Amino acid sequence: MELIYLSRQDVESLGISMHEVLRVVDQGFRLKGLGQTEMPPKPGIHPRNNAFIHAMPAYVKGVEAAGLKWVSGYPSNMEKGLPYITGLLVLNDPETGIPIAVMDASWITAMRTGASTGISAKYLAKQHSRVAAILGCGVQARTSLSALVDTLPDLSQVRCYDLYPEVTRRFIDEMSLAFPKLHLTACPSSGEMIRGADVVVTAIPILEKPKPPLDAGMLEKGGLAVSLDYDSAWTRSAMNECDKFVADDINQLLSIQKEGVYFGGIPGEIYADLGDLAAGLKPGRQNEAEKIFSMNMGIAVDDMVTAKLVYERALAEGTGTRLPL
Ligand SMILES: NC(=O)c1ccc[n+]([C@@H]2O[C@H](COP(=O)([O-])OP(=O)(O)OC[C@H]3O[C@@H](n4cnc5c(N)ncnc54)[C@H](O)[C@@H]3O)[C@@H](O)[C@H]2O)c1
Repeated sequence: MELIYLSRQDVESLGISMHEVLRVVDQGFRLKGLGQTEMPPKPGIHPRNNAFIHAMPAYVKGVEAAGLKWVSGYPSNMEKGLPYITGLLVLNDPETGIPIAVMDASWITAMRTGASTGISAKYLAKQHSRVAAILGCGVQARTSLSALVDTLPDLSQVRCYDLYPEVTRRFIDEMSLAFPKLHLTACPSSGEMIRGADVVVTAIPILEKPKPPLDAGMLEKGGLAVSLDYDSAWTRSAMNECDKFVADDINQLLSIQKEGVYFGGIPGEIYADLGDLAAGLKPGRQNEAEKIFSMNMGIAVDDMVTAKLVYERALAEGTGTRLPL
């Protein structure tokens, strides 16, 4: 028996587009909504303050994707010149359980996270959203913007803020090259950044005791907030003033909340999860005035459908290293 090992470079060399990832992630959410997935809430260990290493298993029926992602997030890595998010993903044959691939999970995490932002926008943003705001101009912000470009045809302006002006500058330079039709602006503060935004994406480090910079009254009427950073960016009152509060997985949200560190300030009523919306079980946005919050923690279903896409493309192109089991 043998498996395929795919390094980060192998995975990236396949050239899979955000459009392709959006398609499989949307399908994954739909199958989740239809009860065609198995995904226990992710357990984690926390070897350092504010750091996590999570185990994320899932099985997606229909797509026949089964496996586990083992992913870490270390805020202190930035000072060491190391990435915040790193990890490995194991895919198994759902028929026999035998591992068929081990692959780097950084690209997969970034792409499926960006895609989840795109899926939130697809169901929850105003139809003609033109202005996006980005808080934290790192890895997840890049893929999120790429997914917003794919999902929101009228997107024309992007307002950006990062704690470090040079990081914002680099983001704007790169994203302007990738999307020349977008007008990207560096904002002097998060308050300035959010002004006039139809969609706000936050992707700053997840902290156990954050001081959220975005407060009630800051999200515009009709705005959509997509949080990729738990409750680090938005205050309790900001989350509670929204007309609809959505998550990528309600079970996972409540299970993390129960641990007592995060999500103490979220509303008592969760309207739906993205699976309900993708499966058409509940309507997403219903008018142009609603303020909507989407808490996208990142779910293993998204990882597995993306990993399956990577695996099949790698097989077709003969990419990767075969290793004995
Ligand atoms: N929800 C998901 O599916 C998912 C997946 C992967 C990562 N994440 C989370 O997304 C967040 C970003 O991850 P990343 O890989 O993009 O990290 P990154 O280090 O590449 O980017 C984070 C950026 O935030 C900036 N920043 C830090 N504090 C800030 C503040 N107070 N105001 C403005 N900017 C600030 C940093 O300078 C950095 O540029 C992390 O919290 C990570 O855990 C979520």
